[in-house]
Amino acid sequence: MALLETRDLTKEFGGLRALDGVTIGVERGELVSLIGPNGSGKSTLINVITGLLEPTAGEIRYDGTDVVDLSPYEITQLGIGRSFQTASIFPELTVRENVEVASFATEHDSFSVNFLRRRDSYDAVRDRTDEILETIELEDVAGNDAESLPYGDKRRLEVAIGLATDPDLMFMDEPTAGMSPGETRMTVSLIDDLIEEWGMTIFLVEHDMDVVFDVSDRIFTLHEGRVIARGAPEEIRDDPAVREAYLGGEEV
Ligand SMILES: Nc1ncnc2c1ncn2[C@@H]1O[C@H](COP(=O)(O)OP(=O)(O)OP(=O)(O)O)[C@@H](O)[C@H]1O
Ligand SMILES: [Mg+2]
Repeated sequence: MALLETRDLTKEFGGLRALDGVTIGVERGELVSLIGPNGSGKSTLINVITGLLEPTAGEIRYDGTDVVDLSPYEITQLGIGRSFQTASIFPELTVRENVEVASFATEHDSFSVNFLRRRDSYDAVRDRTDEILETIELEDVAGNDAESLPYGDKRRLEVAIGLATDPDLMFMDEPTAGMSPGETRMTVSLIDDLIEEWGMTIFLVEHDMDVVFDVSDRIFTLHEGRVIARGAPEEIRDDPAVREAYLGGEEV
């Protein structure tokens, strides 16, 4: 059984059908990428699966559980995480504190004084934070204010905050956007570590095709809310429908 499955997933915004019958499956331990032109529905698909948006129709099952009516918090508790946008970073907290806050919030729905008093709970959060900061290569700047970080480090802190919720499946929406080639390489190696060392399943939305073709086990292509192609990187690379979607039918 696939870890994550959607069936005929549809999302309408007023008259606009942003997702139109999306049926996909993601196996445990896989890295799948979702590509498609701007506005094709990629972020909407992530937002619907993670519970930020309610689907208009269709099914979503995670590890056999129907998650359509669950809140984002409940979905996180099941093991679905996401790399958050920069807006979710607390700029005046340190790098370490940002990860700890996310980690505490995962242990408990809201901050509970009783929880914070429990030494073993705090130890668990601290150990998890250490492990995450090491993986993400931010341990040297753990005590710095988050706002002082360079752009690439801020983006990795978003991934760290996502990891603090202890996910089995992680969504990453354009993790290399705006990065220098060096920062992109670091992010790719981080993604490799998450798969190989953390045993994670990753669902990546990414515009950098070199990254997509390098890291993906399988690729889904969305166009106007529909999956127009799916397969291994070498199958997608030469798929005429994919070329047409990106190039608007121009000869290449
Ligand atoms: N909250 C919303 N309300 C209304 N329309 C929306 C909303 N979110 C997305 N849309 C519309 O749905 C369509 C799909 O948008 P979405 O953001 O999912 O695309 P995308 O594939 O992530 O694009 P990009 O590559 O630019 O990030 C677009 O036409 C967009 O304008
Ligand atoms: Mg998007």
